[in-house]
Amino acid sequence: MDVHESIEELRAGLRSRPRPVVFVPTMGALHAGHLSLVRLARIRAGERGTVVVSIFVNPSQFAPHEDFATYPRPLANDLSLCREAGADLVFTPAREMMEAPDASVRVLEEDLSRELCGKSRPHFFAGVCTVVSKLFHVVAPDAAVFGEKDFQQLAVIRRMVRDLLWPIEIIPGPIVREADGLAMSSRNQYLDGESRRQAVVLSRALHIARTALDQGERDPQRLRKLLLDELQGAPLARIDYVEIVDPDALRPLPVIGSQVLIALAVWFGSTRLIDNLCMRNLPT
Ligand code: PAJ
Repeated sequence: MDVHESIEELRAGLRSRPRPVVFVPTMGALHAGHLSLVRLARIRAGERGTVVVSIFVNPSQFAPHEDFATYPRPLANDLSLCREAGADLVFTPAREMMEAPDASVRVLEEDLSRELCGKSRPHFFAGVCTVVSKLFHVVAPDAAVFGEKDFQQLAVIRRMVRDLLWPIEIIPGPIVREADGLAMSSRNQYLDGESRRQAVVLSRALHIARTALDQGERDPQRLRKLLLDELQGAPLARIDYVEIVDPDALRPLPVIGSQVLIALAVWFGSTRLIDNLCMRNLPT
């Protein structure tokens, strides 16, 4: 496995590598969720193809009050995890390389980005789209893997690739969870003991909603009440949003038809956790 810090080096390294090139962008602090994406990339690339992972904590997707400075950066450990999971190339650019101090071009997705997380993090998807565009230009992948944990991010990236006519296949990776159900996240390590115990309430609420949907519940208000009741049972949880939306448009559903996305964002202290449940092909 080769590690490249510069764009020129990475491009040179890629020239001698066979296609398909399959790309997994990350911000590091890798866990089993990220590694499942690297494994999916390995499968898509086949034995001969090339799997590229990027590790870059992207300043432009953090608001000034957010955790850019304290975001974990365990690079040596990340590199050995990448190697074990089957990466061929890892790109670890310095901040200066990815963004000119007077950069004045950004990539905006202006529909899906406004919903869900876009309301409390209005800067976020412009930062993500801009950095992912740059990474796509540098890596020029045939396919890229994104996790369903960040369902809205996946939807925004798909839209960006469609609208900018990029010949890149976007592959979704299922949510990987801890044994108790908490969706894995690099930010889970911020949680203190009691918050960590209570954080399981997100996946528990989604589980309750899934059971209700399986039993035929189709009323978003009643479903929302079930979710709120469960989340409010955790004294440390502060709800950002509980939304029941169409998984393609990300807009609230007046009544649930054949598909639904339930999306949650909940604060524990200064840590914001997200989780979701997407169900398609529901009997109507
Ligand atoms: P990061 O939070 O490091 O996540 C990198 C990728 O891992 C994303 O596609 C995310 O959805 C996926 N992922 C995270 N937790 C997961 C889990 N529990 N199960 C499955 N997949 C999971 O998302 C970003 O970085 C950044 O916004 C980035 C796309 C790299 C742009 O800076």
